[in-house]
Amino acid sequence: MNPADRIPPGIHNAIDYELLAPQAMDASHHAYVAGGCGWDTTVAANRAAFGHWAPLPRLLRDVRQGHTQLTLGGLALPHPFLLAPVAYQRLAHAGAEAATARAAQATGTCMVASTLSSCTLEAIACAAGPARWFQLYLQPERAHSRDLLRRAEQAGYRAIVLTLDASIQLASRSALQAGFSMPADCVAANLTGYPPLPAQPLADGASRIFQGAMRHAPTWDDLHWLLQESRLPVWVKGVLHPGDATALRAAGVAGVIVSNHGGRSLDGAPASLARLPAVRAAVGPGYPVLLDGGVRSGQDAFKALALGADAVLIGRLQVYALAVAGALGVAHMLTLLTEELHACMAQAGCARLADITPEALLPLSTTP
Ligand code: FNR
Repeated sequence: MNPADRIPPGIHNAIDYELLAPQAMDASHHAYVAGGCGWDTTVAANRAAFGHWAPLPRLLRDVRQGHTQLTLGGLALPHPFLLAPVAYQRLAHAGAEAATARAAQATGTCMVASTLSSCTLEAIACAAGPARWFQLYLQPERAHSRDLLRRAEQAGYRAIVLTLDASIQLASRSALQAGFSMPADCVAANLTGYPPLPAQPLADGASRIFQGAMRHAPTWDDLHWLLQESRLPVWVKGVLHPGDATALRAAGVAGVIVSNHGGRSLDGAPASLARLPAVRAAVGPGYPVLLDGGVRSGQDAFKALALGADAVLIGRLQVYALAVAGALGVAHMLTLLTEELHACMAQAGCARLADITPEALLPLSTTP
C-alpha cells in the first residue's frame, strides 16, 4: 500500500467513498465514471431497484457460527463481493488497476481485470492474489482475441468473463457536458500490441450503427469459438433476458452475470436487480448467477443474494475508493461492505449465505 494513501475522516460506510470521490477526482473524470449513457436513466434505476425491498429482521436465531464464505468457480472466497471489470483506472489514481489488485489480494477478493485496463493483465496478475478473472472483449481479429486468451491463461487468471452488452455505447450526457476526453497517458495497455484494423468507409446510406459500430459485434458463432478455444471456464456478463441465460447455460457457459453495464450500454434498460429473479428462475437453483449494478452497501448485496445471486460485483465504488485512498481505500471499502453484510445477516437471522432466501425480504412495491 502507498504510504501517501490515507483513509480520510468521515468514512463510516462503503457508500461514503462515493460521496467523497468528487473531491478526489478531476470533475470530468468523475463525470465519466459516474455517468451511464444518454440521460443516465438506467444508472438511477439500478439504485432505485434496491429501495423496492426491505430486509426482514428475525429474532432469537443463533448466528454465532455465522460467516460469509463461499465457493465460486472453484475459488474459496471469504465474502460474496467481486471487483467488477472497470476500464482505465488510471483516471482515478496513478497506481491504477495494480493498486486495486493489491487491495483484492489483501482482502481475498476476486478481481475481474478489464481488457481495457490501464495496466497490462500481466502487471495486474503480479499484484493480485490467486482469485483473479480476466474480462474479455472479443477483438475484431480472432488472432488478437486468441492472444489475449493465451496471455490470461499464462498469467494465472482462473476464468474468462466475456462481456457482451457493450458493442456499442452511446456517451453519457453528463460526461459530455463535463467535457470529458481520455487523457493521453490513459491507454488500453493490453491492446497496444494489436494494430487496429484500417478504417473502412461506410457505403452510401449505410448505418453508422449496424454497418459501422456493430460490424465486429460478437454473435453466437463467436461464443462457440471462444468456448472451444478457452482452457478456462467462460462466464458471460451483460445478461438481462432469461432466454439468453438458458441458451448460454446450454452452450456451456460456466455462469452468467446479470448486468446492464452499470447503465452504460442501453439507457432505459431495466435495473439489473429487477431482472435477477427471472434469470434465476430460468436457470434453476444450482447454476452460478452473479449480479452487478447499483450495489453500494452490504444490505444491497443481501437483497441481491435473497433474489437469487450467488455473489455481486462492485463497479464504481471500487473506482471511488481508489481515487479517495488508493489500494488502502479499496481494501477498506471491501471490508466495510463485508461488515455491513454481516450486520444485515445477523439482524435477519441468517448465519450462512444459503440462509438468505427470498423470504428474508419484504417487497415494498408491486414493481420490484
Ligand atoms: C465499467 N464496466 C465495464 N464492464 C466490463 O465488462 N468491462 C469494462 O471494461 C468496463 N469498464 C467500465 C468502466 C467504468 C468507468 C464503469 C463505471 C463501468 C461495467 C462494470 O463492470 C459494472 O458492470 C458496473 O460498473 C456495475 O455497476 P456499478 O457497481 O458501477 O453501479
